[in-house]
Amino acid sequence: MDRLIVRGNGALDGEVRISGAKNATLPVLAATLLADSPVRVGNVPHLHDVTTTIELLGRMGVEVTLGDRMAVEVDPGTINSFSAPYDLVKTMRASILVLGPLLARHGEAEVSLPGGCAIGSRPVDLHIEGLRAMGAEIEVDNGYIIARAGRLKGARIVLDTVTVTGTENLMMAACLADGETIIENAAREPEVVDLANFLVAMGARIRGAGTDTLRIQGVPSLHGVEYDVLPDRIETGTYLVAGAITRGHVVIRNSCPQTLDAVLQKLREAGAKLRVEDNLIELDMRGRRPQAVDVRTAPYPGFPTDMQAQFMAMNLVAEGVSTIAETVFENRFMHVQEMQRMGAHIRVEGNVAVVTGVDHLNGAPVMATDLRASASLVLAGLVAEGETTVDRIYHIDRGYECIEEKLGQLGASIRRVPG
Ligand code: UD1
Repeated sequence: MDRLIVRGNGALDGEVRISGAKNATLPVLAATLLADSPVRVGNVPHLHDVTTTIELLGRMGVEVTLGDRMAVEVDPGTINSFSAPYDLVKTMRASILVLGPLLARHGEAEVSLPGGCAIGSRPVDLHIEGLRAMGAEIEVDNGYIIARAGRLKGARIVLDTVTVTGTENLMMAACLADGETIIENAAREPEVVDLANFLVAMGARIRGAGTDTLRIQGVPSLHGVEYDVLPDRIETGTYLVAGAITRGHVVIRNSCPQTLDAVLQKLREAGAKLRVEDNLIELDMRGRRPQAVDVRTAPYPGFPTDMQAQFMAMNLVAEGVSTIAETVFENRFMHVQEMQRMGAHIRVEGNVAVVTGVDHLNGAPVMATDLRASASLVLAGLVAEGETTVDRIYHIDRGYECIEEKLGQLGASIRRVPG
């Protein structure tokens, strides 16, 4: 298994270009299954989760071609199987996103249950209940969700909890249903909006994307289209924190600043000077130590749970005491123990972590436990004295394109050791 070796190397200074959003690419690729003709998706990041999705489509018989300039061409017309097997789903929960499209377009789907996950139990009951409300017959047998339907019927669905992939699955399914579907308490994440824009470009009729009520008027079919996915706000936020934690200066290009309000606000509170333009963010700490900032995660437009671990890393070496409350997922403090091995002062009580900033961290061998936790350990390594070895970085490769190259461009001392 590959490892990353990071050495504290002072303030970062430089520019980094942001890739397409992982969490928009995955649902958009799943949504290609709804189309009647080939689709070209651009600004696709080169990530393990994207490769897994392409493999999943390929196993169903769908023709996928890698085009130039980070584009993927999908011909959904060659599909010959409607199944997402356990060996793929277990490596990527987002495989559940094919359930809605398969059912709506082909009337059948067999998708393995995602099973356990390092960041809490993460059930998919709301996906299943919503599809049932649209007339699907669904049973769970032998670890598989087995779903059948004639043409789905529009329905009014009130989601118990705000769920991102749940909203996406139901929105995709509703596009081809008979009549109107209303999804209340819908997720408002920018990736949901991006998926809605993609579906509309294919001929879907969706109103309310970005609000908590989606209205989808079903249409008989959707057509192929060319579409570029939006930039990754979590990758953006991670490089901004890399700049802040090292008291450095970074310019982020090809980003979408308006999707980062809560994160930018917290960086300002931490003492960062920010300059924001159309698709550019410049962060300058002017050599100053960050101030501790309190964080409470919440569905969008609240502070993203996918940035919680990175802000904890910043608070480890910030001036003052901070509290970090995780309200979206249970058990998403797996990075705490690893950070403590680097000399961090963190006390966890239930879903709240209290962090007391220390003068310095010490490099140590640490283990990545999930995608964002592993990014936070790399960030901590950037300001630790000595060497930090981050093991199990396949987690990082699921969500960060060329992290060692991008951080290297900013002046970090980081290298990958194949294992
Ligand atoms: C998505 C993101 C992930 C992010 C998360 C929250 C993708 C591919 N992944 O994950 O990066 O961390 O949103 O912003 O977009 N829940 C239920 N029942 C369900 C579904 C969800 O109880 O049927 C609960 C979950 O346990 C969790 C909460 O809802 O507590 C939010 O989860 P959800 O938004 O569904 O996360 P994902 O869509 O899996």
